Parts: sequence; structure tokens; C-alpha cells
Amino acid sequence: MDITVYATYDDVQENKIPGNLVVVVDVFRATSTIITSLNNGCKGIIPVVEIEEAMALYKNGEKGEYLLGGEREALKIEGFHLSNSPNEYTRNVVEGRMIIFTTTNGTKAIRKAEGADKIILGALINAEAIAQYILSKDEDVVFICAGTEGQFSLDDIVTVGAIISRIAAHDISLELDDLGFVCRYMYDSYSDNLESVIKNCRHYNILKEAGYYDDITYCLKEDVISIVPRYVDGIITAK
Ligand code: MLT
Repeated sequence: MDITVYATYDDVQENKIPGNLVVVVDVFRATSTIITSLNNGCKGIIPVVEIEEAMALYKNGEKGEYLLGGEREALKIEGFHLSNSPNEYTRNVVEGRMIIFTTTNGTKAIRKAEGADKIILGALINAEAIAQYILSKDEDVVFICAGTEGQFSLDDIVTVGAIISRIAAHDISLELDDLGFVCRYMYDSYSDNLESVIKNCRHYNILKEAGYYDDITYCLKEDVISIVPRYVDGIITAK
């Protein structure tokens, strides 16, 4: 199995997408929030890039059909029901609902994967489930990290490493590209205390300063959810 890792969605080589299994990772916080929401019974999530696109979809829907969720600069968007905090996506709020979702980097990374054979969403909270899904397919894999505003983000790299490390625990021949090797090395070196390295990330500190330390703690939990969200025909649902 060949594993290719892109540090940001801007780095993705378009010819690497069609026909491949793509895993999108934005651990702080878009993919963690989407996974949580689906685990709490949300019917589906429509990822969009622009706020205007989200508003237009919302206005065209039936009354009460959609919730609007997402962030800009880590904060709730004016007029939206929910921010990008996974802690807001409780069963009470999201069960049976469709959510239109836009975030600074995560939803762009998801849309960048369009055209792939299969698109799934990973984070630390479902790392083992993603690894098991990949092992069950036994295909080459492309990871797209969301990054932070076009820049490499250590939190995503460590998360990809967590998934690779779980795959590598099985008897399988793995060919990692150089970044894949770095991801695995980083995770394996800090797996007993991920926060000790992730606290150096710019995004960690943005969230902490914005008062979202609880989200950080939650997003750093490993293997607490076993669903694998899939993005098919414009909607993300639980597999
Ligand atoms: C993003 O998509 O850029 C992030 O999820 C931002 C955030 O942490 O809210």
C-alpha cells in the first residue's frame, strides 16, 4: 500500500486524486466536529467554501430543513446556529438534522478531494476506525491535511501519523512518502503525550486564546468514536 501525504490542500497534485482513496484530516477542528456531529445522529453535512454559498443554500431550503454551522477566525459566523466547536454538536441539537457547514480550511480541503474514488474524514477521535477502513480496502491512500491558512500544521501531521501507525501495526507492506514517514515518526515519538508536542502549533494557541481549550482536549482524545464519515455527491454521512 502506497501512502502519500499532502501537508495542505494547496499542495495537492490534481492527478493524485481520481481513482484514489482520500482521507481528509483537520483535527482542529472541522473533521473532529463533523465526526462528532454524525456520531450524535446528524443526518448529513454539506461542506461549502464560502459563507454566501452557505446562506444561499439555507435560504433555498424548507423552513427548519437545515442548521448552519462553521467558523471564521475560530468564531461563530454571524447569523449561523452553530460555531465549529464539537461540543456544540450534541445529540439534542443535531439528531435528524442536515447541517450546511463552512470553515476556513477544513471544508476547502474536503472539496479539494472531489473526484476521488472514495473520500473519508479522519481525526484522532476516529483514528482506529479510519485505519480499519483503509486496511479493509487495501488500496493506495492519499491524505490531505487541511493545514492552517495555506501553511503546514503540526496537529494534522501528528493525526495522520496516528492513523499510519495503526495501519502499520498490521502485517501489511507499506510504502510511505517522506511526509508520511515524518507523520509516523512524530506520532510514535509523542504518542504517550500528544499535547506536549501539539501545544507548539499555531492553531492550538489560536484556539486556546479564543477560549476553546475544552475543544483542544476533546480533539486530542483517541479512538472514542468508531464511525467513518464519507463524502459522496456533495454530502457527508456516516458510513
Ligand atoms: C478550519 O477549518 O480552518 C478549522 O476547523 C478552524 C477552527 O478550528 O475552527
